[in-house]
Amino acid sequence: MSDSAQLPAAPSSAKLQIGDKTLDLAVVVGSEGEHSVDVSKLRDATGYITLDEGYRNTGAVKSGITFIDGEQGILRYRGYDIAEVAQNATFIETAQLLFHGDLPTAEAHAHFTKLLSKHDEQTFEDIVAAMSGLPATSHPMATLSAMINLTSGRYSDSGFNNKAEFEEDAARLMGKVIILAAAAYRTSAGLPILAPKAGYSYCENFLYMLFSTPTKAHVPDPDVVDALDKIFILHADHEQNCSTSTVRMVGSSGASMSASCAAGVCALWGPLHGGANAEVLERLEYIHQSGMTPAQFLERVKNKQEKLYGFGHAVYKNFDPRSRVLKKAADKVLAKLHVNDPLLDIAKQLEDAALNEDYFKSRNLYPNVDFYSGIIMRALGIPTNMFTVLFAIGRMPGWIAQWKEVRDSKSKIYRPRQVYVGPAHRAWKK
Ligand code: ACO
Repeated sequence: MSDSAQLPAAPSSAKLQIGDKTLDLAVVVGSEGEHSVDVSKLRDATGYITLDEGYRNTGAVKSGITFIDGEQGILRYRGYDIAEVAQNATFIETAQLLFHGDLPTAEAHAHFTKLLSKHDEQTFEDIVAAMSGLPATSHPMATLSAMINLTSGRYSDSGFNNKAEFEEDAARLMGKVIILAAAAYRTSAGLPILAPKAGYSYCENFLYMLFSTPTKAHVPDPDVVDALDKIFILHADHEQNCSTSTVRMVGSSGASMSASCAAGVCALWGPLHGGANAEVLERLEYIHQSGMTPAQFLERVKNKQEKLYGFGHAVYKNFDPRSRVLKKAADKVLAKLHVNDPLLDIAKQLEDAALNEDYFKSRNLYPNVDFYSGIIMRALGIPTNMFTVLFAIGRMPGWIAQWKEVRDSKSKIYRPRQVYVGPAHRAWKK
């Protein structure tokens, strides 16, 4: 079934017949007209469970944070279209919108911004000490996840029920994540770790900590800061994707905000999810170095010898609305920075050719957010092994908001069932 808005009005219940037994199942309709059948009592009533491998047809939660219509290419944060959020809000305002459901007042925004830049020296010393014990060859995603866990011990956010501390915990985690992300890169590049600089905004500080050298403090370019802010906004939440479901699953056990989000970093790392942005660039480099034409590479994709990373999406069967905004931002940044990069020409040719190829058209494969974010990040000078880390920084507010929703809904621990298909009971035999 495609667009749920085209469905006829929902009945109040659906009937399920199993053998000679008929069961009335409640129909639940979402605020954007999504129809679902509540099967939560199915096992108690019939002994049956539902089977939906990979949860692709399962509404695991009721959530009020983000709405996606994959057929129409719609993405909204708390009711606001993503393009409007990206045009009008900052990343920090977006984070507060996701946490609390409404745009922040000027006072609430000033308060949270102040908390974000409150770094105590002991935390920074802890980070430097803990990082020195990690192998320099660690992937920055491994370092980020490990360090979020390692540095959470000093704080109260281990308290799942400590609601009064939410703002402090969220600000501390978001504020610390840019320090850890920059530190992960600097360690992998053999550079000393830098502390944030007072007076710089969130994105300015990240760029400062990432790019400063021992002899020259980096002064962030306002256009680059703006592009980074947009990248973060566009990544800030995406309802029940793999990493967010992971965060919610971990949080449902009563685990802290930090522990749940550290798990989200690991889930995001995979190449089918957030890791795709780095894969895009690696494939472009491969095409460039091998001397292959984009058309020859696409032949390999059509023959299933390759995957075109940055194309396709589990939910969007149309243009990813984030990629529309990012494409415009990419064009602007590339023009402004006068970037002359053969990989970007290859990306453009690949995109044009793929959008006209029957293989992609017939499978509804369009560029997703990772295609353009990889291109912009390259233009901004971000090292490829940091691409997915930047995704994690951007997704942090969404993970925090989703963790908070689990906590506030007093949900039971998440516990899917299975259909066991292993050996039936057998007698012990050596
Ligand atoms: N390149 C080539 N073929 C593809 C691609 C791709 N990027 N994506 C899907 N296909 C093909 C599949 O091989 C399959 O072909 P078939 O019908 O001949 O068997 C068909 O399209 C359907 O693909 P599925 O894998 O069933 O689609 P699904 O919805 O499960 O996968 C996914 C979605 C994982 C994103 C997939 O499109 C993919 O692997 N893309 C590349 C990785 C990527 O860019 N991931 C980032 C997604 S956005 C994000 O997580 C932030």
